[in-house]
Amino acid sequence: STIVFASAEVAPYSKTGGLGDVAGALPRALVKRGHELLVVTPLYGSVDRERHALRLLDERIPDARLYEATLDGVRTIFLENEALYGRTGVYGEGGEGYPDNAQRFGFFSRAILPVADALLPAPPDVVHLNDWQTGLAALDLARRRGSRAGLTRSVFTIHNLGYQGVFPKDVVEELGIGWDAFTPEGLEFYDQVNFLKAGLVFSDLVTTVSPTYAREIQEPEEGFGLDGVLRSLDGRLTGILNGIDTREWDPARDPHLAARFSDADLSGKAACRAALCRELSIDEAGAMVIGIVSRFAAQKGFDVVLEALPDLLERDVRLAILGSGEHRYEHWLQRAALEYPGRIGVKVGFHEGLAHRIYAGSDAFLMPSLYEPCGLSQLYALRYGSVPIVRATGGLADTVEEARDGGGTGFLFDSFTAEALVGAVDRALSAFRSPERWYGVVQRGRSKDFSWDASARAYEEAYRSIR
Ligand code: ADP
Ligand code: GLC
Repeated sequence: STIVFASAEVAPYSKTGGLGDVAGALPRALVKRGHELLVVTPLYGSVDRERHALRLLDERIPDARLYEATLDGVRTIFLENEALYGRTGVYGEGGEGYPDNAQRFGFFSRAILPVADALLPAPPDVVHLNDWQTGLAALDLARRRGSRAGLTRSVFTIHNLGYQGVFPKDVVEELGIGWDAFTPEGLEFYDQVNFLKAGLVFSDLVTTVSPTYAREIQEPEEGFGLDGVLRSLDGRLTGILNGIDTREWDPARDPHLAARFSDADLSGKAACRAALCRELSIDEAGAMVIGIVSRFAAQKGFDVVLEALPDLLERDVRLAILGSGEHRYEHWLQRAALEYPGRIGVKVGFHEGLAHRIYAGSDAFLMPSLYEPCGLSQLYALRYGSVPIVRATGGLADTVEEARDGGGTGFLFDSFTAEALVGAVDRALSAFRSPERWYGVVQRGRSKDFSWDASARAYEEAYRSIR
């Protein structure tokens, strides 16, 4: 079938987190299975037009010129509008969102169908929307019902319910949304406009990125005010686990690493570990090196990390941390690095290469998330032989199994407390001290298959279910 896939970030062109990875990899997996894909995304100032060989198209839509790039059979269309997207950030800069995100993503979401109209010979079978930045397209499509263009079905995927795109109701006029949609059954949310809610209520099918998260968001504690709406979707909400791009993320071929490694020869991992410790000025000795690669946000559990820090550092552990985001976490972590020289290495910023080197060079990988829709980082860590220590929530609970009795791939804890986190680290440490046992945990993790094939097939099935 023909699928239009819309996302505010698409790797390798733009990325702030896992959404970019998914929007880069899932379309490629679907193309491999014989579908025709048109990916639609904004053209940010940070997209490298030369490197990706972007080409200006003759076709255009009101207020945007269209550029195209093709990679592995996937055609990606970029919307050029200097005033809206000609800046370096995707959603904002320096931890602050841009004040005109309603306009930026209101325009983006309402341009998705016009782009399809301009470039495809016939209406697509499916429009696959991702997160709040694309929500209004579901409304526009619902309004086409009854016409030929209305035969297209919509799928809306929730990657993170914590970000909904909620704006003052003035944008109803400003974006020409139409007051008829501003109802409790529509996109009205406590007298404001909620872009994500538009995606939920006007789409034919709603998915999220793990089965456990699909259940959790229907409860008040994790529903961010939308649990009632999500419960009312009934059979229209399912969880499909993300995959990872096993070509991009392959320690046997990764160009970012100091040395490469495979099952046949894991010695390269020791070289990666030594190189990482040099890079971040960590003294390794016999300690367990724990990696973190993360957005600095409350979602990722930094409040418990900071609380647990003194206890953790009484143990034989070192921390290798890469991330960026909220300033308070940047400051706290940088201060901790000064306080514990040689024991915590912190790098603030977005560095693809260093991220790969942390997965490869760390012994364990910490993800104490408050909530986690899927999580890709723990999947990369598994593949790179870094044992995940994670909170049992969302996709983390679906992808990591407690290591015990000769089985399992990592260490999990339930309650969102420093004690529980330290307890899981202690279980990891005791396994780490027995090289044979540790090797078993590492190898079981490395042999897990989280490639996109299975997930792409599940999406295919989902598309078929609404035709
Ligand atoms: P989320 O999407 O919630 O941020 P995921 O685990 O799904 O979490 O995906 C995070 C992705 O972003 C991974 O590819 C991870 O390596 C990457 N990432 C996060 N922070 C950084 C950073 N500071 N530098 C480089 N890559 C990062
Ligand atoms: C979101 C979630 C993360 C998920 C990613 C891709 O950013 O926070 O858990 O893996 O989207 O679906």
